[in-house]
Amino acid sequence: GSGKFFVGGNWKCNGNSESIKKLVDDLNSAKLEDDVDVVVAPPFVYIPQVVSTLTKRIDVAGQNSWTGKGGAFTGEISADMLADVGSKWVILGHSERRHVLGESSDTIGKKSAYAATKDLGIIACVGEKLEERESGRTLDVVSDQLQAFADSLPDWSNVVIAYEPVWAIGTGKVATPEQAQEVHAAIRKWLSEKVSPEVASKTRIIYGGSVNGPNSSELAKREDIDGFLVGGASLKGPEFATIVNSVT
Ligand code: G3H
Repeated sequence: GSGKFFVGGNWKCNGNSESIKKLVDDLNSAKLEDDVDVVVAPPFVYIPQVVSTLTKRIDVAGQNSWTGKGGAFTGEISADMLADVGSKWVILGHSERRHVLGESSDTIGKKSAYAATKDLGIIACVGEKLEERESGRTLDVVSDQLQAFADSLPDWSNVVIAYEPVWAIGTGKVATPEQAQEVHAAIRKWLSEKVSPEVASKTRIIYGGSVNGPNSSELAKREDIDGFLVGGASLKGPEFATIVNSVT
């Protein structure tokens, strides 16, 4: 693997003040291995609550951010605002943004370029749909998505790539360790050829899609799997801690 193991919990559009208080309490009392970067992404409106109550051991991320500083863009949140309320990271290009909300790689690139100017770490998501995998286009799709990030990012020092096959997200159908390793290795090769060997060796490539307590340790053993982006299982503090502690 590359660098420190990285585990993100993407809470998506879930929770309320009370359930989030409980989740924060559970995370605060969890025993987490030292050698792991841990980040959680609450819904925007709960970020101040989480930042003020969560242990500083865990960083906070936004789930999205706008392409610029802000202004007349009803419903949007800028990277400036995320940083202002204490977020250190932002998730960009998540499959639900791409495929449910219709965001293009071009828009995601603009968002990434702007977030980078605010010193937010970027969790850059890529991944193919089932029909793309079945027609043998996985690496083409992932390469195109990576290219849009590469064209926009000034550098890769504060970027984590999340490989999330769309067919594995929220389906309970986790990629096998072999399937995930194969794409992670291809992403690292792409980085080496299109960006630089140094970036390829330093950039963490994390896996997302139905990761849970029971399946994380087999995935974590694979050479190019440097952590996880966890959805559903990140809503349960003890299970999320198990995933964090699957670092090898
Ligand atoms: O960002 C997280 C991923 O979309 C994975 O979600 O663990 O619920 O499948 P999931």
